[in-house]
Amino acid sequence: MEIIDSGLFHVYEGDLSGEKVERSCKLYRDAMGFYKSVDETLDPDTVMYEVMTVNGEKKEPGYLNWAISLLHPVRVNGECCMTRGHFHKNTECEEYYWCASGEGLLMMMDENGHDWCERVHKGSLHHINGHYAHRLINTGEEDLRVICCWNSNAGHDYKRVEENPFKHRIFRKRRGIVIEDA
Ligand SMILES: [Fe+2]
Repeated sequence: MEIIDSGLFHVYEGDLSGEKVERSCKLYRDAMGFYKSVDETLDPDTVMYEVMTVNGEKKEPGYLNWAISLLHPVRVNGECCMTRGHFHKNTECEEYYWCASGEGLLMMMDENGHDWCERVHKGSLHHINGHYAHRLINTGEEDLRVICCWNSNAGHDYKRVEENPFKHRIFRKRRGIVIEDA
């Protein structure tokens, strides 16, 4: 019997590494539309967030994806850095988020357009119903690292969120976290 390495390595408060890891990077120039207003002081090449993913072998029921979302503590005219946000194309597919470091919010929205947030902090674990839209928001002063596990056949339905956007926006101002109507 052989004893071998898995070829993947995940440092809890660090990166995910291995041959199968795919890395993507969202720059401000490609994220401007998520925010209430354009921040002319922010370099369009600013890295807003990164995602490291190990995709399941097939995009079929029973296969899993594993990833880290790493959101940098960038503000856009005071609005906190956030992911694009999506529904799953296959609403039967759930997801878990597990925070490794930093602080933020997980904004969710049901199919009736009702939205709310869960507090995200080191160790917090979040179950996401397959019917809920979800978006991560970094409200802190350091990187927010969130580990994600979901069905590889879930898909991302960004258009559905663009047509039915979240109703609230999160800002960090001198007096702290401020929630505004979108
Ligand atoms: Fe998701």
